[in-house]
Amino acid sequence: MELKKIAIVFGTRPEAIKMAPLIKELKKTPELYDVKIIVTAQHREMLDQVLKVFKITPDYDLNIMRSEQTLSDITAMVLKKLECIFIKESPDMVLVHGDTTTSFTAALAAYYQQIPIGHVEAGLRTNDKYFPFPEEVNRQFIDTIADLYFVPTKTTKVNLLKENKPEEKIFVTGNTAIDAIHYTLQQTGQHSIQKILDPSQKWILLTMHGRENYGQPMKEVFEAVRKVVETYKSVSVIMPVHLSPSVQKAAESSLGNHDRIHLIPPLKVDDFHKVLKKVYLVLTDSGGLQEEAPALNLPVLVLRNNTERPEGQKAGTLKVIGTKKERVYKEIIELLEDEVQYKKMSLAPNPYGDGFASVYIVKALTEYFKKEGKFFKEQGDSER
Ligand code: UD1
Ligand code: UDP
Repeated sequence: MELKKIAIVFGTRPEAIKMAPLIKELKKTPELYDVKIIVTAQHREMLDQVLKVFKITPDYDLNIMRSEQTLSDITAMVLKKLECIFIKESPDMVLVHGDTTTSFTAALAAYYQQIPIGHVEAGLRTNDKYFPFPEEVNRQFIDTIADLYFVPTKTTKVNLLKENKPEEKIFVTGNTAIDAIHYTLQQTGQHSIQKILDPSQKWILLTMHGRENYGQPMKEVFEAVRKVVETYKSVSVIMPVHLSPSVQKAAESSLGNHDRIHLIPPLKVDDFHKVLKKVYLVLTDSGGLQEEAPALNLPVLVLRNNTERPEGQKAGTLKVIGTKKERVYKEIIELLEDEVQYKKMSLAPNPYGDGFASVYIVKALTEYFKKEGKFFKEQGDSER
């Protein structure tokens, strides 16, 4: 196989965490892959934290983040800037991840240049276009124009087959989030926050940032959490607060000024994973955390009305509880008091892979390039 140029585009914290292991794997074979890393910096500080932990230096940094940026801001800036880079670099493939607006726009920019697209963490669906917003539509758009699909589970493969995506272009690999945990937990060093994790307390880790949860849903969840802490003296909360101004304001207003509720800045991912290992329970609307917590034997109460990660629900590790105050309060209490239920959730198997997803993705890519040309002709696709 001749040397292939792979452009990897990402911009937010979760994409960076999940693409980092793949970058490391691709870079192990410089005779096969010339890797160009393009960050949009849709997130600035939260992206830089990840780049530092994984020691990744981008080849291009679009530096687009603005305070309170709109979806159109992100789309317009990324699309135009990537056009120039794709024309200049002419990569053999563009890899994008998941469902952010960076990923959707990068896929669109690649399509406009007729560059093959590989979608990592493809196939997730709620089939509700406003939940999560705008991620459900972002990922459906990407899958419409992708050439290769790296799906985390069999369920996600079935989702794509139902949409008539060709089976030979779909590879079940597990989720690279698990690969990332294997890396971060090997890092040495201890963040000062670990010292406050008093083992006599039951710690709840809380994160919440989805656009669909801005306003009333966030307020109700935060009020429920505060009520739990006020009722149970043995419970403390740690919340690394996302840098979105909407989240900052909501958290400060409902959860601020309580000595057992710790609102802290976003943690570096290695510190965050070490904190996760010490807490009792996770409350979150994050996609990534729904995959990571089960790998660390932690139950997750999902602060959403539905999830695109039904494997975790089926395995028993995730419970979708919505965002209504009474329900959230009741579900937390149940896990604090019912040890049998707690154990059942925390010991459920992790359905998101064995930590070698990046190895399987690179293998699949190499297989694809070895059959290049033939592959597309067989599918009746472009002649590139
Ligand atoms: C984005 C993704 C979402 C993903 C989430 C992960 C879209 C539309 N949304 O949502 O899918 O789950 O990232 O966290 O792609 N900010 C900073 N510094 C940072 C990061 C954010 O100041 O390092 C602030 C900025 O004011 C920015 C705001 O947060 O305008 C919102 O960021 P944005 O990327 O638009 O949306 P997220 O809610 O982070
Ligand atoms: N994370 C982190 N520091 C924090 C909180 C979360 O590194 O303070 C990591 C977490 O381990 C997971 C990812 O960020 O891998 C989740 O990102 P986020 O919640 O921003 O996005 P989502 O998963 O919802 O897309």
